[in-house]
Amino acid sequence: MGEFLLITDDVHRGRRLARDLVECGSWRVHDLYDEALPTAGARLILSDVEGLHSEALVRLRRALDQARGKGVPYLFLVHGNAARAEAQARILGATDTLAANAAGHLITGKLATMSRTWLPAAAAQRHTLRAKSFLADAFFSNQAVTPAVAETGTELIVQAIRETSVHDWVQSVQRFDDVTHQHCLLVAGLAVAFSGALGLGPADRHHLAKAALLHDVGKTKIPTAILNKPGKLDEAEFAVMRTHPAEGHAMLVAGGFDASLLAVVRSHHEMLDGSGYPDRLKEAEIPDLVRLVTICDIHAALIERRPYKAPMEATKAYAILETMAGRLDADLVRAFRPVAHAHTKAAMGAREQYVA
Ligand SMILES: [Fe+2]
Ligand SMILES: [Fe+2]
Repeated sequence: MGEFLLITDDVHRGRRLARDLVECGSWRVHDLYDEALPTAGARLILSDVEGLHSEALVRLRRALDQARGKGVPYLFLVHGNAARAEAQARILGATDTLAANAAGHLITGKLATMSRTWLPAAAAQRHTLRAKSFLADAFFSNQAVTPAVAETGTELIVQAIRETSVHDWVQSVQRFDDVTHQHCLLVAGLAVAFSGALGLGPADRHHLAKAALLHDVGKTKIPTAILNKPGKLDEAEFAVMRTHPAEGHAMLVAGGFDASLLAVVRSHHEMLDGSGYPDRLKEAEIPDLVRLVTICDIHAALIERRPYKAPMEATKAYAILETMAGRLDADLVRAFRPVAHAHTKAAMGAREQYVA
């Protein structure tokens, strides 16, 4: 599978654009004035050339001849005179054009519609973007999180996994730069897949997904400087972070939520040996629904992409879950194995501290 190629006459602008479009995939930025030609095999090409005079046109054509395979979609971003640029785009064989000053999400949407080669991933991307804006509007906007809001969010995620796969969902969500959105959506997606591995029916699957989606709602009360710190937390910051289960429980306790959901919000950091928090619960005091979410939660925290770390490869993350025997439910960890192995193509990396 090839990569996405962005050809530009201004590498700084090109890199900025690639960052804006990171949710499409990983971009290679090619400088039009680089003497070396781009390598062949791109899955999708985007050109962003502001000064498209005759020399630039020759260079762009040469780069496209080299990099663009048969049927590969090519989006031409239009700077300046639209009629002239449209004519140039036709000469170059562009699949479509768009104004260069269009917002990132419009470019992403256009790329998704143009491309037939990454349709499954594009479907996951559409769903994850929808779920992400839902989270931003409903969970992280200082509005009360109600059972109705939780229902809507859960349905979005259950439907997304049904129509795509946990692999595509994880790949797509891992590209989000907002750590908390990424985490909530990963845990919820893993929970849906876990319910499949456990053979749960639709009602139980929905309930588990809802619990997973809500589990870290208390993080909305944690200062963003701690939540989004681009590095490891120190002890004092970690102590603040550890208040999120009780904060989340306090947020929802009077909201008409089911007791089993409230238990997940409050107790998902409890460990079977009593070493967890906030209530140092042990063994039978920790309900099954909590145990299920805790496994998804830790696995998600390990495979997440952060500004300072690549995602840990899924099999490696699963191996860590296996070492937590005595703290996690070993039977449930075994049942989670096919879920962890369903998305093993994540990038390699490692971290010592996880903040779930
Ligand atoms: Fe979490
Ligand atoms: Fe948590």
